Amino acid sequence: MVRSIIDVPDLTPAELDALMDTAEDIIARPDDYADACRRKKLATLFFEPSTRTRLSFEAAMYELGGNVLSVTGAGTSSAAKGESVADTAKTVSCYADIIAMRHPKEGAALVAARSASVPVINAGDGGHCHPTQTLADLLTIRREKGRLGNLTVGLCGDLKFGRTVHSLINAMSRYEGLKFVLISPEELKVPSYVKNEALKKKAIPYTQTTDLMDVIGELDILYMTRVQRERFFNEEDYLRLRDSYILTPEKLKKAREDLCVMHPLPRVNEISVAVDEDPRACYFKQVLNGKYMRMALILMLLGLKAGGDRV
Ligand code: CP
Repeated sequence: MVRSIIDVPDLTPAELDALMDTAEDIIARPDDYADACRRKKLATLFFEPSTRTRLSFEAAMYELGGNVLSVTGAGTSSAAKGESVADTAKTVSCYADIIAMRHPKEGAALVAARSASVPVINAGDGGHCHPTQTLADLLTIRREKGRLGNLTVGLCGDLKFGRTVHSLINAMSRYEGLKFVLISPEELKVPSYVKNEALKKKAIPYTQTTDLMDVIGELDILYMTRVQRERFFNEEDYLRLRDSYILTPEKLKKAREDLCVMHPLPRVNEISVAVDEDPRACYFKQVLNGKYMRMALILMLLGLKAGGDRV
């Protein structure tokens, strides 16, 4: 089986560091990478809506000199006729050198990877995980704070269905001196399996609260998330919970001067637009960093480096 990236633990800490170093090199010397993926094709198979992840993968491949094949929406591919994820992956392997796939079902990317003969990158599978968002998040934290350890990280919002949160906890739990503050309504707490595997097993300190303002002053990172309407079983619960946390300039007065405010986006109401002017707002930097990290990941999985040489 070729190497695929389904979740963050598929990458070692050394590989994460190497990906961030490659991303920094791409930022510094983009021309050196302009032909790195010449004659290579990326297939983006997106069976769920996306703006950032799909377009950043596609921009990444174009900036590496490669080409892109795209499926957007289950209704436009033979999935609508009942084709299985496994058969789709086998088929697309005949056309593309690497696949990025988003799917509403947890585990779909793993199923695709088991059938594909080219690398598969999980671009988000249901409420499970979203490892390439985590790559964007890690580079952003490293660039903004200068380190990935010794930080107090607040995660706020829908921590139950927010797959980016699950992947980020998983990734950051590998660094020293971390403390997590989990801020959510009672119904939207981090699932036990994430806490057990990533926090309890490694004895990483964490607290849980429903009140953002009680803890905002302690945080180095505040990672806001959207309440995931598409994963709720009933609209009433969504409407009751959707505006649990709205970050405003007024609330930020209680926060540290060097706080880093993050959000995987899209935002709905969780961060007021007025916060965008605050120098602590880092969420659009995350968007750009995501493209560079996806470039680095494509290169790694295809065994290529600057200039198109093989590693
Ligand atoms: N962060 C993220 O996954 O955004 P999209 O849903 O727009 O891809």
